Amino acid sequence: MEISEISVEDEHDESSSSSANVEYKGAHQAFRDRWKQTDDTMCRHSMSFHLHHTLRSEFFASYLYLLEKIPLVKLFPVTCEYIKGEKQFYYRAQQFYEDVPASEEGMMGDFVEISNIDLEGSRQFLKRFVGPGKAGTHCALDCGSGIGRVTKGVLLPVFEKMEMADMMEHFLLHAHEQYLGEDADRIETYYCFNLQEFTPPKNKYDVIWMQWVACHLTDKDLMNFLFRCKKSLRPNGVIIIKDNMARQGCKLDPIDSSISRHLDIMKSIIVKAGLEVLAVERQEGFPEIIMPVWMIAMK
Ligand SMILES: C[S@@+](CC[C@H](N)C(=O)[O-])C[C@H]1O[C@@H](n2cnc3c(N)ncnc32)[C@H](O)[C@@H]1O
Repeated sequence: MEISEISVEDEHDESSSSSANVEYKGAHQAFRDRWKQTDDTMCRHSMSFHLHHTLRSEFFASYLYLLEKIPLVKLFPVTCEYIKGEKQFYYRAQQFYEDVPASEEGMMGDFVEISNIDLEGSRQFLKRFVGPGKAGTHCALDCGSGIGRVTKGVLLPVFEKMEMADMMEHFLLHAHEQYLGEDADRIETYYCFNLQEFTPPKNKYDVIWMQWVACHLTDKDLMNFLFRCKKSLRPNGVIIIKDNMARQGCKLDPIDSSISRHLDIMKSIIVKAGLEVLAVERQEGFPEIIMPVWMIAMK
């Protein structure tokens, strides 16, 4: 980390600017004592406050839980530091997925054998929100779709048309050219976008599905993305997040740059985005060694 990039002046500017910052200062003091060993240098250079502030802004719901496990000097670089104009948190994920094969194995990490159980759980959950008097079956959007494992196994059997969004072009190409077969004709648009920069079209979708991708967005970007998704729902439309949820607090995986949040933390981000939680359900039948996976429906 380029410690010298953050000057003492910056810190003074911020600390004197507003009383709201007292909150950050409190956290800074508390954690300074706990990680004296690693945090000392930064405190001496009066930068800790600035880093806390930045982290808190990106991870407003997870910030204290993350700090409980990872010292600020390690957490800041892997989350908020910019490299070549890109936030490390996103840069690392991109690097990670560049090497992931466009296959079901690639989408499922080391757990391809649970793919069918996962898809069946999703189909059953989806049924609760689609049908007469509920969401329509005109069009759905699969966010962080990868090669379209969920599109193929859960959504295409229900919706007339589909759209897919993913940051990796090679996944979308494989979906179109091979994986989806003839059903690729029913994919209206492939969006090759980072979700944190993507605004889906307004009033378009009956269902927006986000599986194992909310964990790749910072709290702030996830909240803002959900806010934009809400505007792109048709009447009675729902957003469904399916993701790993930490048993306690939050867990950061610096390898693929993902953050698993406790269900309550996830819910607080959803509510902040102006959405209402309709139902939550744990995916059954997964091995105990893997982190619990939950489905959350919202509108
Ligand atoms: C673990 S895979 C899951 C794929 C699919 N949802 C499934 O369940 O099979 C995560 C996917 O999210 C995509 N992804 C990660 N971060 C993203 C981001 N910031 N914006 C868009 N896509 C992202 C990756 O490229 C990858 O395809």
